[in-house]
Amino acid sequence: MWKNILLFLSLSGLVGHHASPITKLYHFVDQKMTWTDAQRHCREHFDDMATVVNREELKQLQESMIGSDNDDDSMWIGLYDDITRWSNYNQTYIMGQHYGNWAPGEPNLGAAEEICTKINQSTGQWMDVQCSNPNQVVCINDEGDYIYVPDQMTWHKALELCKSNNTQLASVRDASENTKLVAVLESDAWLWLHRRPWSRWSDGRGASYFNWKTGEPNNSGNNEHCIFLRFNTGLYYDYNCGSLLNVACQQRAKTSTFKLKISSEANLMDPEVQRQFVEQLSAKLAKEGVTGVKLHLVLKEGQDQRPQK
Ligand SMILES: *[C@@H]1O[C@H](CO)[C@@H](O)[C@H](O)[C@H]1NC(C)=O
Ligand SMILES: *[C@@H]1O[C@H](CO)[C@@H](O)[C@H](O)[C@H]1NC(C)=O
Ligand SMILES: *[C@@H]1O[C@H](CO)[C@@H](O)[C@H](O)[C@H]1NC(C)=O
Ligand SMILES: *[C@@H]1O[C@H](CO)[C@@H](O)[C@H](O)[C@H]1NC(C)=O
Repeated sequence: MWKNILLFLSLSGLVGHHASPITKLYHFVDQKMTWTDAQRHCREHFDDMATVVNREELKQLQESMIGSDNDDDSMWIGLYDDITRWSNYNQTYIMGQHYGNWAPGEPNLGAAEEICTKINQSTGQWMDVQCSNPNQVVCINDEGDYIYVPDQMTWHKALELCKSNNTQLASVRDASENTKLVAVLESDAWLWLHRRPWSRWSDGRGASYFNWKTGEPNNSGNNEHCIFLRFNTGLYYDYNCGSLLNVACQQRAKTSTFKLKISSEANLMDPEVQRQFVEQLSAKLAKEGVTGVKLHLVLKEGQDQRPQK
């Protein structure tokens, strides 16, 4: 009997030997590059630099490197510390674009831990410091008045104290506000200006999973804002972005669905016939150079039972 069958063919790429569906493939590039060049390379040849969002992905990344012909087990991954990007109360603060009265050489991102800022009472200049240091607090109310609090505490406590009083920790947006703030200071005090280090991956994902080597990140030399991974251990190290290393890139799975209409004398509802059909189609696609895809067949029986060519 002739049958017209609508056939939905779903091609999904990047299928490996894993039981769970793989959403991306990692690729090791055995070519020494700076982090920025590595990013460009990954984006040109794959999708982006490798992102690792959890332990399973870290394992997948490590496994994909097994057997790769490399002499060096250190490679860039997509995580970096965007040191130009801060947060100033309700605004994103970009270094060099927004007003900042930084002291010479500041912010220096010392020891990878200076992500809070304070203002120097005698100069009105800013510097980055550790958030856990005790400092004086100034709050700002809705009218824009700075209110000096004669009490020392950590940055997070200061933030809470001001909030609990329906005010905000002092922020400064221009030179006149800076002058106004300095006028109420009796000592160095916290500024709202703050940043979250290692917060984003090259592909734009937010970072929450880290596998630092003990003692890392240490921002050695105050210039380590990129990360390399050792694939033998899976541990992260912060490193100078200008250093030359191999890189791990990634490619995301893509799924495409095609609608085919076929006529056949064979009974296409027969699972064995379907299996053979997929096999033949895969072979044909492979001949055309389409490999690494998995075919899924979804059949819908046609209404029209008349023979067609
Ligand atoms: C941030 O807060 C200030 C002071 O309350 C206000 O003037 C400004 O419009 C706010 N900016 C944004 C982007 O919400
Ligand atoms: C504040 O500025 C004064 C004058 O330049 C300087 O002596 C002092 O060390 C600064 N304070 C801090 C914490 O850097
Ligand atoms: C809390 O608010 C009151 C009333 O506006 C003010 O007098 C006081 O200085 C404020 N304290 C802080 C810590 O902002
Ligand atoms: C930072 O960590 C690396 C690797 O663990 C180490 O070689 C280096 O000496 C450390 N630097 C500092 C300043 O602690």
